[in-house]
Amino acid sequence: MAASIFAAVPHSPPVAVFKLTADFREDSDSRKVNLGVGAYRTDEGQPWVLPVVKKVEQMIANDNSLNHEYLPILGLPEFRANASRIALGDDSPAIKEKRVGSVQCLGGTGALRIGADFLRRWYNGNNNTATPIYVSTPTWENHNSVFMEAGFKDIRTYHYWDAAKRGLDLQGLLNDMEQAPEFSIFILHACAHNPTGTDPTPEQWKQIAAVMKRRSLFPFFDSAYQGFASGSLDKDAWAVRYFVSEGFELFCAQSFSKNFGLYNERVGNLTVVGKDADNVQRVLSQMEKIVRTTWSNPPSQGARIVATTLASPQLFDEWKGNVKTMADRVLLMRSELRSRLEALGTPGTWNHITEQIGMFSFTGLNPKQVEYMVKEKHIYLMASGRINMCGLTTKNLDYVAKSIHEAVTKIQ
Ligand SMILES: Cc1ncc(COP(=O)(O)O)c(C=O)c1O
Repeated sequence: MAASIFAAVPHSPPVAVFKLTADFREDSDSRKVNLGVGAYRTDEGQPWVLPVVKKVEQMIANDNSLNHEYLPILGLPEFRANASRIALGDDSPAIKEKRVGSVQCLGGTGALRIGADFLRRWYNGNNNTATPIYVSTPTWENHNSVFMEAGFKDIRTYHYWDAAKRGLDLQGLLNDMEQAPEFSIFILHACAHNPTGTDPTPEQWKQIAAVMKRRSLFPFFDSAYQGFASGSLDKDAWAVRYFVSEGFELFCAQSFSKNFGLYNERVGNLTVVGKDADNVQRVLSQMEKIVRTTWSNPPSQGARIVATTLASPQLFDEWKGNVKTMADRVLLMRSELRSRLEALGTPGTWNHITEQIGMFSFTGLNPKQVEYMVKEKHIYLMASGRINMCGLTTKNLDYVAKSIHEAVTKIQ
């Protein structure tokens, strides 16, 4: 037999976060804790189907007017309009002026990808693969790859995390923006920065916007945690809405994976804000072409769940309550972990645990300490020291806090 035509294909390393979960599953130690996974867990350590989602799923199942015909290429109109509305706000002047468009995408990742593909084709010239793309250090690792796969050749980093002060390096960030070539694209985390859990304050966002405007830089927001950061949809959308109010043309990739718990339904939306309706319509017509050759038409179930919920005032209120339940549990785990570490007298300061927001916390544990946690304590977390606060429960908090204490005191 001749060798396989695929014989020269190299094995690609596994995606770190999924590998961590696989290792956790195989671990038979009864004390094991998974702080790696990027999904919400209840205090029993279980995934949570939001009650409002269960209710709407029943409504959809009982609705005989629905069918499985193809959706339009750009997606379910009610979903697109409502998704953009929660990003930009009920009384957004941009929506009233009809200069907002949207594309239903496969998760937040799909929205980033369609946006990236469009920008490579049509932004800053035609097929300009040299436009610099700036991502924060650190960032969600997929940002680099999505823009690279879309064809961009010059992916750069901007300062974000100040490890010494365990907070935002605002000056480093602003300096990078000052020095970036005009028309560079900046990927900005709308809220609950992944992985650091550290966001600019409104005052800092104003400084960022001022530099970006003066230097003609393009903001591409990634909004994967709206509602999750503070428990309030409006508060978590503050930065995006401020940029729109400042007259920016921008993209905002929205994910409904976390705030609706619809991870495997792949519900996302790309909101496009332009100068006027005509510009937005031309952009959408090109995005329609890109979607046609990418997934042709989006899936409907998740989009129907989200659209039905957002369109009904009662269901919308119920959903906000569900989101708050998740956000409040995260906030509680933050304060409980911090108070345990402080009570143990664990060396270092731990105020960052409660000051950071969203699902993740950057603990400051170094790679050796992380290794100790995984190997000796069966507590799984990313090598960067990032933990998912939802992996903590009232039952494992003491064990995790004591283990962090041991790791920090024993391993330098
Ligand atoms: C910052 C960030 N952007 C985008 C996404 C993608 O979300 P989705 O699962 O909807 O593609 C995630 C998910 O972890 C994320 O953390």
